[in-house]
Amino acid sequence: MYFLIHLFRIEKETIYMRFLEHFKPELVITSPGRINLIGEHTDYNMGYVLPTAIDKKIIFSFQKNSSPNICNIYSKGYEKGFTIDLNKVEKSEKEWENYILGVVHEIQQLTTMVSGFNCLIESYLPMGSGVSSSAALECGLAFGLNTLFDLALSPIDMVQLSQKAEHTFVGTQCGIMDQFASVMSKKGHVIQLDCESLAYEYIPIKLGPYKLVLLNSNVAHSLASSEYNTRRAECEEGVRIINTKFPLITALRHTSLDELKTCKDLMSATIYKRCKYVIMENERVKIAVDALEQNNVELLGKLLYETHEGLSKTYEVSCPELDFLVDLAKEHTAVIGARLMGGGFGGCTLNIVHEKEVSTFIEVASKQYLAAFDIQLTAFEAIPSGGTSIVYQE
Ligand code: GLA
Repeated sequence: MYFLIHLFRIEKETIYMRFLEHFKPELVITSPGRINLIGEHTDYNMGYVLPTAIDKKIIFSFQKNSSPNICNIYSKGYEKGFTIDLNKVEKSEKEWENYILGVVHEIQQLTTMVSGFNCLIESYLPMGSGVSSSAALECGLAFGLNTLFDLALSPIDMVQLSQKAEHTFVGTQCGIMDQFASVMSKKGHVIQLDCESLAYEYIPIKLGPYKLVLLNSNVAHSLASSEYNTRRAECEEGVRIINTKFPLITALRHTSLDELKTCKDLMSATIYKRCKYVIMENERVKIAVDALEQNNVELLGKLLYETHEGLSKTYEVSCPELDFLVDLAKEHTAVIGARLMGGGFGGCTLNIVHEKEVSTFIEVASKQYLAAFDIQLTAFEAIPSGGTSIVYQE
């Protein structure tokens, strides 16, 4: 057995070494993961979000090769690579390859200037943990190809084509928040983004003695993508019904709880709940922006707890592990707010924790989580950072 594993490793190393043999990067890009302070599942409802990139990233090294159409991609983390023929970009059976293929495909819809390249990917972002390693992957590649081949795409082009890649090749009908945060973030700020007009403003994030701590549940329930698409469809159904009474309403962002109530009898209890959550969450983002501007961290924390309650009970995208972590945070006096972050069904909780108690909180949470689920928690501080950028260019 040991012999087989050893042979397998040597085989992997050989492929890797062969890849690296002629590899001299001419361009290195870093592309970050993101957190979202508040505004969950509001982006595809044309509402507001408050995300920022974090200091955990994926690094891409690029080199043009002499081929007109052959591209070699190698992921150091997966110890796996694959080849793309630019004359025949099609979906793969492997999910991670589709993020790459999707971006290449979308770029090909805009330009014919991409030719053969080699790309080495090194990820320092936990996958499937709600910090959007997928957007980091898409946007890093888009940014890299844009620079390598002088495609003259704007940052917003890259954001939008990356989002589209996820729709068409991966199959998740995501909103625009993750890609926008990955590309557009500014160190020490969150972005108040209007997902309808794409107008945005950088808001300094000053939390005084508090830190943003992510607890990674290390569960990623397989429902995530299908349930995500279901939620989006439920919201669209809600809008369709509200629109029969209020013809100007084209997105949940434009309606109110009062209007929704008048449509209650026209929709199922489930659709009603989904709409109610989104309307309330969108309001919470506006209150959170005021709270940030007034340095009212306590109010911000309270809003995070409210969001979790909504995501868990009304929008129903939580899971026992995430509920457990938020309940546990509520018992710790040094934590003033916590909620699940991202699409749901696993991944991280975002916690606002007093700096003096960060390590104690992590220690206690890890012990209790291990005892309850037999899963090791991982935790890290999220530091608001800049977006996708060039590290090195020849
Ligand atoms: C995922 C999606 C985003 C957003 C969040 C929920 O991260 O990619 O577009 O909808 O879920 O807020």
